[in-house]
Amino acid sequence: MGRFIYGGDYNPEQWLDRPDILAKDIEMMKKAGINEATVGVFSWSMLEPEEGKFHFEWLEKIVDDLYANGISVIMATPSGARPRWLAEKYPEVLRTTSDGKKCRYGGRHNHCLTSEKYREKVSIIDKKLAEKFADHPAVLYWHISNEFSGECHCESCKAAFREFVKKKYGTVDKLNHEYWATFWSHNYNSFDEVEPPSEIGDGGISALALDWKRFATQMTVDFIENEKRALKAGGATQEVTTNMMYDFDGLDYGMLEKPLDVISWDSYPEWGKTGGDYEEALAHGMCHDTMRSYKNKPFLLMESCPSSTNWQSVSRLKRPGLLKCASLQAVGHGADSVQYFQIRQGRGSCEKFHGAVIDHTGRDDTRVFKECCEIGDILDQISEIKGSMTNAKAAIIYDTQNRWALNETQGPRNKDIGYSELVRKFYKAFKKYGIDVDVIDQDHSYEGYRILVVPMLYSIRNDNEDRIRKFAENGGTLIATYLTGVVNENDLCHLGDTPHDLCDVFGIVREEIDGLYDDQFNILESADEHYWKGTRRYRCDKLCELISPKDSEVLMKYGCDFYSGKAALTKNRYGNGEAYYLAADPEQKMLDEWIEIVAESCGVERILKTPVDGVDIQSRQGEKYRYIFAENFSDDTVLIEVNGDSEVIYGKNDRLLSPYDTMIIKQKI
Ligand code: GLA
Ligand code: ZN
Repeated sequence: MGRFIYGGDYNPEQWLDRPDILAKDIEMMKKAGINEATVGVFSWSMLEPEEGKFHFEWLEKIVDDLYANGISVIMATPSGARPRWLAEKYPEVLRTTSDGKKCRYGGRHNHCLTSEKYREKVSIIDKKLAEKFADHPAVLYWHISNEFSGECHCESCKAAFREFVKKKYGTVDKLNHEYWATFWSHNYNSFDEVEPPSEIGDGGISALALDWKRFATQMTVDFIENEKRALKAGGATQEVTTNMMYDFDGLDYGMLEKPLDVISWDSYPEWGKTGGDYEEALAHGMCHDTMRSYKNKPFLLMESCPSSTNWQSVSRLKRPGLLKCASLQAVGHGADSVQYFQIRQGRGSCEKFHGAVIDHTGRDDTRVFKECCEIGDILDQISEIKGSMTNAKAAIIYDTQNRWALNETQGPRNKDIGYSELVRKFYKAFKKYGIDVDVIDQDHSYEGYRILVVPMLYSIRNDNEDRIRKFAENGGTLIATYLTGVVNENDLCHLGDTPHDLCDVFGIVREEIDGLYDDQFNILESADEHYWKGTRRYRCDKLCELISPKDSEVLMKYGCDFYSGKAALTKNRYGNGEAYYLAADPEQKMLDEWIEIVAESCGVERILKTPVDGVDIQSRQGEKYRYIFAENFSDDTVLIEVNGDSEVIYGKNDRLLSPYDTMIIKQKI
């Protein structure tokens, strides 16, 4: 499989007057074991300084020099930021804000999503780049634009939105029905009257808000397709990617991933923030798992910071070892690369203090540089792992469109409905025992999983109710929670009993839902001491649903308030499987203890013999071997004991793992 990709963003265009620095950069890259540089991100003004005048010779020289020194490139298209001349000559390429203000030139993703002119100009330069570099042996991938985000409210975008809505609903009657437009006298007489949501206009039609977000994503997908076509027309045959962001819900990445060949993303944990490093590692671990799960393929860690960023609230230095932990954690979760932003630190403007492999001193004996060298060495030692995949038997649905719907809707708890938090709590419970988890959106395949967790899947779209039902019917263990199956994809409430079309699967019917203020809570008490092997009491917060069990067993009940004694956790046999319904938002401990029972009962293997706090455990599997990664984000030295025979391939043979250290264990499958 060759070596892991090791490198990152490199902006030599900022240093063309310093050939000495460019030459030294290459020497230092080699010293650090760097074998890749991502070039061309934001280089447009140097590639086409005037309209139609292309200067690729500097980039060609850099790519040749890098390649001659064993360094490949990921070639970026420059569409993430445009040159001044382009915006001045064609002002329509700039965005309009939701309150109608036309943006001025500046920033990065400040382009209109639908502008034909912008797409045309991007296509021209992309095609030329491909003509120049597609056959260059250095080029590994094409990196389309950079961190897509945002929306535009110009007339062209509004017209495209109307077309989008018209295509979706066909008739105005259907539109009025799905938007429930008779409410507040909002009926449309024609598609021409459709306006995007805005703080100075329509803010309350949740279906409109959801469609607008889908539209923004679709326009971004079209933008990517346009860039792909141009690259192909220029002769590019390499795979394409674009770098995604942490837990980003501005676009539906579930739609955005479709035109991409490889998933890549930028991970910038806020180490040292309250909550502890393990929480941060878990949150980013979950995002790694999300990225891996999109295509069930290794992904690229396109950016990460070798030291501290310049944009977080506090620029805290990474403690010694932490960079190694974070980098290998990404690899453990399925990354086939470790890449940084950036290789050389810029000298001016707003990112001049962002951490880099090579800082302003240009020295190769800095603490950070030495750690980068060490990581380069380790990646070489473990290159047999590249290409292997995680074989997760548990999956959690974490769905962006559902997240939009939960956030758009008013009631039952407008203050922090807690969707992401609940998903993370489930995730944490699995990870406590070193159980690998895929994090998927609701349209992803459910095949191959033994446990499927469906937290707060309020808005279920397409035929997913049916697929969820079949998952249980075919022998899977299904776990759903409060607020599942409430509305359709347009936030229209289902009539009749809910969870919609799933009541028989769970053997329950939903009655009411109680929102709790922050200082209020209820109690979950075991209702079946045999199931819990004794009695249990846990706290629950935020939301408590009142359900009535039909055929299901009651495993927990509420402990106080007027619904004391009512069912809070139920279990139902359905087909060959089992379906659990959790009615309230439990404390972490409840999930930790419960998931252990569930995993054991359906034979999902635990990697660890005994759970260790503060350590991220994850595995990848090749044809013959499984590789277990352990990174210690706690303050204590811990013993890593895995089930079955194994050999340590990185780390200490006594299997003691110090704080901010990493261990990699190999096991025959
Ligand atoms: C993002 C961008 C980079 C850079 C870094 C800084 O990830 O893609 O261009 O601005 O942030 O952390
Ligand atoms: Zn626009």
